[in-house]
Amino acid sequence: MKKVLRYGVVGLAFVLILLQFFRIDKTNPPLVDGETLEAAVAVSPDISLIMGRSCNDCHTNKTIYPWYSNIQPAGWFLKSHIDEGREELNFSKFNMFEKKKKIRKLEEVCSEVESGQMPLPSYTWIHRDAILTESEKQAICSWTKTEIAKLETAQ
Ligand code: HEC
Repeated sequence: MKKVLRYGVVGLAFVLILLQFFRIDKTNPPLVDGETLEAAVAVSPDISLIMGRSCNDCHTNKTIYPWYSNIQPAGWFLKSHIDEGREELNFSKFNMFEKKKKIRKLEEVCSEVESGQMPLPSYTWIHRDAILTESEKQAICSWTKTEIAKLETAQ
């Protein structure tokens, strides 16, 4: 029995070491000036700061990879969230959306933040500074409402 356990532990350690050879691709897709959120709507420094801290790692092409992205399987888990987050809503490509889609995505930003679904709990669990305060949530929502109103009245 002891022997089986010992083989098990050695085997597990071996697998964990092997996993480390499969590193994630950390190259950020390019940033194009005219395609970004900032090109589409007004983003105040306050809002920019909040999003930079809490959203940009998964929803822009400006991801800053944390130390644990070098450790598998944590890195794979993070990478899948980044790929999925960009797929759903990439702020670096926001100006490429049609007006209708911009409005819908801004509405979703407010509702996701208000309901506490974003930033993802698995992210705030490690990135404690990404947790939004009530007043930050309100700032995000009043910003999205202002920008939606502007988009609606624009030609
Ligand atoms: C750890 C990565 C991560 C962070 C950080 C993060 N998101 Fe997300 N976000 C995702 C993923 C993955 C999805 C898609 C799956 C889901 O909805 O849970 C998503 C979905 C969304 C959606 C839904 C898009 C749609 O079309 O349905 C919105 C809106 C959103 N995020 C906004 C935000 C905002 C705003 C922040 C910052 C306050 C943020 N997210 C932070 C990973 C992240």
